[in-house]
Amino acid sequence: MQAMVTAADSELRNGTGAGADFRDWLHLPTDYDKDEFARIKAAAKKIQADSEVLVVIGIGGSYLGARMAVDFLHHSFYQAQTAADRKQPLVLFAGNSLSSSYIADLIDVIGDRDFSVNVISKSGTTTEPSIAFRVFRQLLEDKYGVDGANARIYATTDRQRGALKTEADAEGWETFVIPDGVGGRFSVLTAVGLLPIAVSGADIDQLMAGAAKAEVTYVNPDLTQNEAYQYAAYRNILYRKGFTTELLENYEPNMTMLAEWWKQLAGESEGKDQKGIYPSSANFTTDLHSLGQYIQEGRRNLMETVVKLAEPNHNVKVPSAKSDLDGLKYLEGKEIDWVNTQAYRAVVAAHTTGGVPVMTVNIAKEDEFTLGYLIYFFEVAIAISGYLNGINPFNQPGVEAYKTNMFGLLGKPGFEEIGEQLKKEIND
Ligand code: PA5
Repeated sequence: MQAMVTAADSELRNGTGAGADFRDWLHLPTDYDKDEFARIKAAAKKIQADSEVLVVIGIGGSYLGARMAVDFLHHSFYQAQTAADRKQPLVLFAGNSLSSSYIADLIDVIGDRDFSVNVISKSGTTTEPSIAFRVFRQLLEDKYGVDGANARIYATTDRQRGALKTEADAEGWETFVIPDGVGGRFSVLTAVGLLPIAVSGADIDQLMAGAAKAEVTYVNPDLTQNEAYQYAAYRNILYRKGFTTELLENYEPNMTMLAEWWKQLAGESEGKDQKGIYPSSANFTTDLHSLGQYIQEGRRNLMETVVKLAEPNHNVKVPSAKSDLDGLKYLEGKEIDWVNTQAYRAVVAAHTTGGVPVMTVNIAKEDEFTLGYLIYFFEVAIAISGYLNGINPFNQPGVEAYKTNMFGLLGKPGFEEIGEQLKKEIND
């Protein structure tokens, strides 16, 4: 694969590949707006001081990065902790579905607590976040008055254009920028991810430092030296051999959303021109008791990539017990994480024997530096992977198709004809 990887690397680095205008994420860890970074930290401090809850409104690339980072970096029961234990505002998410129950329940959970809103949308017109923003803006205005509400709204959007930018300027909301050359799924290291992550109490300097380390580590096109490129090459070799679905797996429940973020990164980047690896996920050992059967013996089109943690945040040992009815005496005194690692080793052996290729991405810790590094690893690997498969990894033309239909059915002005046609087709 070296010749193909060298060509893909050249397309990415020299901007000769498709979608070249959307490569600014490549140097984000080092070449970012330092003044804005300072403003993000200042805004996070203000929100920490005046709010018990931050409602982050966004969807897709304007949601998943912050969500996965908050889960990855905090207590497994972050949301259930008391304010005193958590010490920082609760970061909750809205605008990532059209469920009215979810919105009502979120309002219920906020209750009479002080809150702020970070609305994130590059276009400013995406249906889900726009509807949620109306609801939570109204809630803020009812609670704090118009001026008070305006001081609690933070808009992360396009530098110059779009409905949200226009409204933010008119109302005096503090704004942060989604840079032009960074697509939504590559935007977690911009204000899109950084503000909510900073509000949650995580160290965004360390996050950027980890990404910066990866930026220099993964610059060498030599396949023997570059693990991100190795990952891209392996998954493409496997894809061509018929392994068309890749499961991103973890052995830590707080990495569930990491897989959701990765699924958007991989799926939206690679699934086009009627080709591409289908990104899916599994959470182990939980899913070994559900999906495990299929993975072991089902259709042989699966490959697996495990993100394996070396050092858990806490160690708990298997306690001794009076009786040995559960047959666990032989494990007494062992760390549960050691048991987890033996499960991982056993699964890799079983699945490999069963004909499922398994790759592993080893990470040291669940801290900010490691996460920043991991984010960059996956971003650069997926970009190279897209070029290896001959597509533009930076566009997403397919996400518009359903929207046209939905606008037709909703009766949005300008879409009436499509709506009428569609209603006939579906016998509405
Ligand atoms: O990656 C993408 O481009 C999408 O997932 C978008 O981030 C998502 O549709 C949200 O768009 P916007 O930020 O314009 O509201």
